Amino acid sequence: MEAAKIKADSMARIFSHIGVDAVNVGEKDLALGIPYLKELEEKYNFPFISANLTDENDVPIFKRYIVKNINGKNVGIFGLMGDTSEMVGEVQKVAGGTVKVQEILQAATTVIEELSGKVDYMIALAHQKTNRDWVLARRVKGIDVIIGGQDKLKTEDPKKAGETLMVQAGEKGQYQGLLEVTLNGEKTTQNSLIPFGDKIEDDPEVKEMITAYNDKIVALYGGGSDAEKDADAAPVALRAISCEPCHSEVVQVWKASDHAKAYSTLVERSKQFDPSCLACHTTRFEKSGGFTMTLQQPELMNVQCESCHGDATAHLSEMQPIPVADPTMELCIKCHTPDRCPDFEQEYDATWQKIAH
Ligand code: HEC
Ligand code: HEC
Ligand code: HEC
Ligand code: HEC
Repeated sequence: MEAAKIKADSMARIFSHIGVDAVNVGEKDLALGIPYLKELEEKYNFPFISANLTDENDVPIFKRYIVKNINGKNVGIFGLMGDTSEMVGEVQKVAGGTVKVQEILQAATTVIEELSGKVDYMIALAHQKTNRDWVLARRVKGIDVIIGGQDKLKTEDPKKAGETLMVQAGEKGQYQGLLEVTLNGEKTTQNSLIPFGDKIEDDPEVKEMITAYNDKIVALYGGGSDAEKDADAAPVALRAISCEPCHSEVVQVWKASDHAKAYSTLVERSKQFDPSCLACHTTRFEKSGGFTMTLQQPELMNVQCESCHGDATAHLSEMQPIPVADPTMELCIKCHTPDRCPDFEQEYDATWQKIAH
């Protein structure tokens, strides 16, 4: 929780610094509690918006919309949360039963009526499945652009429903979506997705903020924890070494693989205490018999045998069968996610050969 708050704080600070105008609240944003979001909003003078998230008395929790004057034109930007039972369930799971999701088409219509005549353009930020964005565009007239998010799609060409354009820019800030629109009777549009790859230089101030975030996380968990002191005092044998007497060739293959250096990859970047990295760069993160944030067991650092074959405790002590004898590709994809390794499935045979045993 503490680490997640530090992360959210850093993100709000960076968003504010780079000039993000507004953020539509998604269900995961509610995980730290509404008061904390409000605190960030105030601290960084940075609006979270939602036209249809309300408290139990139907009072909006956040600003429903903002109006920005851009080059002499007024642009209305409002936020929407999907209202399918699935989405409402997610919201209430995270935020508790006191948060309500109002009917989305009605909420959008009300905002548009309220802003009509006051704005030149209307942008909706929609947190819901893309098929619901189509429904929104068709049923509610007057939205110029819907910027979607939940499906994490990358729309090279904007989709068009009537007069409404719909775009999405992938996930995890991997792309900057740039939509150029000329609204002169006949709409002409051009959409680009600019990858934040190595070719884009780091902004020195943002880089500093990220370094400050990393340092805070290190200070929170590290800074002389017992586990770290123990690790300094005596090198601890990795768990995989206990497999060596009987599977020595496999252990040799593993030692030469990138899985065996997954933890040092994080150390090199001062990310070894960040739970959102450790999840895939350690063994069985926060699962039974696995690496935990509180214990920081050195013997479970890196992606070791048990990441794929399951907890081997009983296999080691009583020669019980190993829990997962034949790991499948689905397991790999839990870590080799499509955003990191888009061609993993197609290239599986060649990839497996790099660690084959
Ligand atoms: C004392 C010897 C010994 C140790 C130590 C040992 N194993 Fe095994 N392991 C075996 C034997 C014996 C088999 C069964 C081989 C067979 O049936 O072909 C086996 C089978 C396996 C299999 C394949 C299961 C199958 O049915 O094909 C996996 C995976 C495995 N072990 C993983 C591990 C891991 C991971 C460790 C370390 C955490 C480990 N073993 C430690 C002896 C050992
Ligand atoms: C627990 C998470 C996790 C699982 C499960 C996992 N990997 Fe990995 N894998 C990683 C991480 C993390 C790295 C990067 C390590 C580094 O370089 O620091 C990696 C790197 C690799 C690499 C080297 C980079 C490359 O693409 O050439 C190969 C090969 C690989 N994994 C294959 C597999 C295969 C095949 C499976 C499934 C049988 C699998 N991995 C399952 C986390 C995982
Ligand atoms: C969902 C699982 C997952 C999470 C979470 C994750 N990684 Fe990874 N990481 C991987 C996999 C899988 C690879 C290997 C990708 C490849 O090379 O094909 C990898 C590779 C890397 C590499 C490249 C390693 C190299 O040798 O070039 C770096 C750096 C890295 N991760 C850092 C991080 C950091 C920092 C975080 C936290 C912000 C993080 N990872 C979170 C799965 C994950
Ligand atoms: C990235 C995931 C991954 C890691 C890490 C990993 N394995 Fe495996 N292991 C597999 C897969 C996948 C198979 C192949 C299953 C199959 O052939 O169906 C396999 C097969 C095996 C087998 C059976 C081989 C045979 O000939 O039947 C043994 C034994 C084994 N692994 C032991 C280990 C040991 C010991 C380690 C650690 C040193 C380890 N594995 C690390 C994924 C992994």
